[in-house]
Amino acid sequence: MLRLKCDSSDAWVDVALSNIGPILIDHVHCERKAAAMAVSLITRYPHCGVMVDRMALLAQEEMEHFSRVLTLARDMGFELNRDKGDVYVNQLLKHVRKNEPLRMMDNLLCAAIIEARSCERFLRLSKALPEGPIQEMYADLIASEAGHYTLFLSLARMYFIPADVNARFDELLDLERDIVLALPADAKMHG
Ligand SMILES: [Fe+2]
Ligand SMILES: [Fe+2]
Repeated sequence: MLRLKCDSSDAWVDVALSNIGPILIDHVHCERKAAAMAVSLITRYPHCGVMVDRMALLAQEEMEHFSRVLTLARDMGFELNRDKGDVYVNQLLKHVRKNEPLRMMDNLLCAAIIEARSCERFLRLSKALPEGPIQEMYADLIASEAGHYTLFLSLARMYFIPADVNARFDELLDLERDIVLALPADAKMHG
């Protein structure tokens, strides 16, 4: 359903399981950046009313995720620190075309892909973690991140010609697979 062209490596799952504190803190930053991306789409495309309404709700939901993950991290003795950045997202966003309206299409499709990759990793973690609050949280978050993937994809198909969207989505999915396969297995949510 997510249409990603590769799975995350077993090596990444192993690194994540043995560094769950840093993974949780990096995940907190991912939720903040997901909210920020929603707000930036409102800033850039205020005339797209349906998208503005959806992004307003999404930003709130992502900040609820932010608080939920941060609370769990703190319960385990890990505190928020400075964001170490997200090489995966930065590399993916380099492929966003610069001219409008193609820039908007690519931003929506890259957001869909980032949600899909997060969802895939939450699923892997939820299956690999021992039963407990962290495992429960990842199992819980899968459905909402899958919903965000669908939301971004449907918005792209609403504002652009669906055949053009599908063709570009396939290109970006190829690029995303190459990025994921080339990244080292670090204790980061997106590697
Ligand atoms: Fe989220
Ligand atoms: Fe999300």
